[in-house]
Amino acid sequence: MESIRIGILTVSDRASRGEYEDRGGPAIHDYLAEILACQWTPVPRIVSDDVAGIQDALVQLCDRERCSLVVTTGGTGPAKRDVTPEATERVCEKMMPGFGELMRKVSLEHVPTAILSRQTAGIRGSSLIVNLPGKPSAIAECLDAVFPAIPYCIDLID
Ligand code: MTE
Repeated sequence: MESIRIGILTVSDRASRGEYEDRGGPAIHDYLAEILACQWTPVPRIVSDDVAGIQDALVQLCDRERCSLVVTTGGTGPAKRDVTPEATERVCEKMMPGFGELMRKVSLEHVPTAILSRQTAGIRGSSLIVNLPGKPSAIAECLDAVFPAIPYCIDLID
């Protein structure tokens, strides 16, 4: 059976400069390792909060690395440097707003600041891109909610 490829993209100025340990990327990796029953290959990347750099990484993970799923962490908030949703929208042909809506809804049960995340999801070719906030604790909170829909969505776009 062919192994599914999953991009894990950390978006952080400080992590990309090595000033801060990336905890979001490994948290996504550990979550997926726990939940996935199939063979999978992680394709990790770290980029700064730069819209062109994020777009470039997303395009590479979808088109060159042939990732069926790309999960991003960070850069979804209201700060000037937070541009992950904009980069996601620019590279996607179709947006999937239900993912962001559901993740914000469940996140509000954990933190009142969940409304500050503009996290979204979209489709580029046969890849699904899902944004998560940068807090490592947000990863399971968000993925628990949307993960049941992900394999079916990937099947539909293949
Ligand atoms: N969602 C969950 N589940 N848990 C969190 O801790 N933090 C919020 C929000 N969503 C958070 C969350 C906060 S404080 C911010 S500023 C936004 O996500 C954006 O975070 P980001 O810019 O790191 O992506």
